Amino acid sequence: ANKKLLVLPGDGIGPEVMDEVERVVEWLDAKRRVTFSVERALVGGSAYDAEGTPLTDATMAKAQGADAVLLGAVGGPKWEKLPFEHRPERGLLRLRKEMALFANLRPAQVFEPLVDASSLKPDLVRGLDIMILRELTGGVYFGEPRGIETLPNGEKRGFNTQSYTTSEIERVARVGFELARKRSNKLCSVEKANVMESGVLWREVVQALGDKDYPDVELSHMYADNCAMQLVRAPKQFDVIVTDNLFGDILSDCAAMLTGSLGMLPSASLGAADESGRRKALYEPVHGSAPDIAGKGLANPLATLMSFAMMLRYSFDMDEDAALIEDAVEKLLAKGVRTADIRLEGRAPVSTQEMGKALIAE
Ligand code: NAI
Ligand code: MG
Repeated sequence: ANKKLLVLPGDGIGPEVMDEVERVVEWLDAKRRVTFSVERALVGGSAYDAEGTPLTDATMAKAQGADAVLLGAVGGPKWEKLPFEHRPERGLLRLRKEMALFANLRPAQVFEPLVDASSLKPDLVRGLDIMILRELTGGVYFGEPRGIETLPNGEKRGFNTQSYTTSEIERVARVGFELARKRSNKLCSVEKANVMESGVLWREVVQALGDKDYPDVELSHMYADNCAMQLVRAPKQFDVIVTDNLFGDILSDCAAMLTGSLGMLPSASLGAADESGRRKALYEPVHGSAPDIAGKGLANPLATLMSFAMMLRYSFDMDEDAALIEDAVEKLLAKGVRTADIRLEGRAPVSTQEMGKALIAE
């Protein structure tokens, strides 16, 4: 089958790490007889420079038509002073919004060879493999009304609205239950039903959906503040955590740091399923464009390569090929083949390109 892939390298280290993904795509094409048709387009600052906008309508249309989109990173000092609508991150926000990507998957996985390098207690993180599922298009970041108003007494008031509808909760919870089924069959739903009405509804809807469609999945509920504590105290108790936009923003960053390096963290953002079960999907590393190391061959391409592995798993059901990549990553780390950000003491770090080549050899 021909799979249409839109590759958006972006700015800074984005193009460097994306080259290594394309190396793997070519290898898969040759070795596994999967045909990807890869199209490249600009996003972010590089798109603004060449096309006058961080994301053209033509590129947006290509993203809508693709089976999956893979993005590097956007941004950099060169574009920081631009007016808001021209800023690189507007390109990414437009993609998320128009593709209606409501489910953000942030795995936090600890690779055995990196356990000892972690600043955390080895027993705490050894074997850690959890997934934070964050609702991405609703909640307090988007709720209306919002604003800053001047009160009669001359004081100002800034306000936002946390709001979730039944269907918004249900669709992300459904993704959570499905993920749990593919993993260890445990879903923890996180809100603050003790102090928030939206949390009361959230808990109700998730529980009802579980009772109705996923009685086989072990469902629990937890308050968000407790969840933050538990993530740091005993993270291995979790499998999949599903939560709203705000709590998910914070808890996913918290979970990410249990694993060590920013250069190792992949992510996926999924939209609604169509009649054929296909979801719009955008895959990207968690890190940014790292202008401090761009153009030097120093960037760790593993976050992007593992985002690509997520694409194989979640967009194309190619679980075996995804595992092939993830296993190769683990083996390379064990052998000490590492970029500078995760280098082994006493071993010379490898370059971005060397890492990509070593992955294929492995
Ligand atoms: P950053 O993630 O780009 O870099 C933070 C630190 O981690 C830097 O020291 C960098 O060298 C290092 N780092 C990041 N990725 C790495 C990798 N793959 N290998 C080795 N080291 C790596 O975050 P920062 O510095 O806050 O932002 C830089 C630019 O990126 C800004 O313009 C920001 O707006 C943008 N950004 C874009 C994101 C996106 O495209 N999704 C996300 C976060 C930031
Ligand atoms: Mg965040």
